[in-house]
Amino acid sequence: MLSKNINNLEETQKLAYKLGKLVKSGDVICLIGDLGAGKTTFTQSLAKGMEVNDYVTSPTFTIVQEYEGRLPLYHFDVYRISDASEMYDIGFDEYVYGQGVCVIEWAHLIKNVLPKNYLWIELTHVEEDKRKIHLEYTNDYYKNLAEEMLAE
Ligand SMILES: Nc1ncnc2c1ncn2[C@@H]1O[C@H](COP(=O)(O)OP(=O)(O)OP(=O)(O)O)[C@@H](O)[C@H]1O
Ligand SMILES: [Mg+2]
Repeated sequence: MLSKNINNLEETQKLAYKLGKLVKSGDVICLIGDLGAGKTTFTQSLAKGMEVNDYVTSPTFTIVQEYEGRLPLYHFDVYRISDASEMYDIGFDEYVYGQGVCVIEWAHLIKNVLPKNYLWIELTHVEEDKRKIHLEYTNDYYKNLAEEMLAE
């Protein structure tokens, strides 16, 4: 596990943008954190790093929103899901094993249907604009991704 203190909004945006530059086809990024921790903010900058030109908003009512960048971006917000099996109804497997990058807000709610490997990013409030970012990974690929993202 890796972690880092974030002092302001720009630092979150910079990290996320960098991750957006690094991600590859088939990557799965899980975003966890309280309301307002910055999951959607993070996704917006990640999308910019992926060269998505559309404005990214939280797909709360649709569960998933697709964007076109240098790769497809599939942005999930599973906050309102009552049972992880609902993910199958929206074709979750096709997204996860597809050509794009999946970013999943509130991924802990669907932990039992997540694929084997992913990068797990937790944002926690410290105070006002300060956050802490915790990174966990299931394999060396995601470990490297996390390390590269945090590298100065
Ligand atoms: N360091 C920071 N990182 C991220 N967001 C920050 C930071 N400092 C301030 N903010 C502000 O906190 C808010 C984060 O809101 P955001 O919608 O991204 O959170 P969220 O985790 O997606 O919430 P929700 O669970 O409601 O979807 C934004 O208004 C953002 O500008
Ligand atoms: Mg959000």
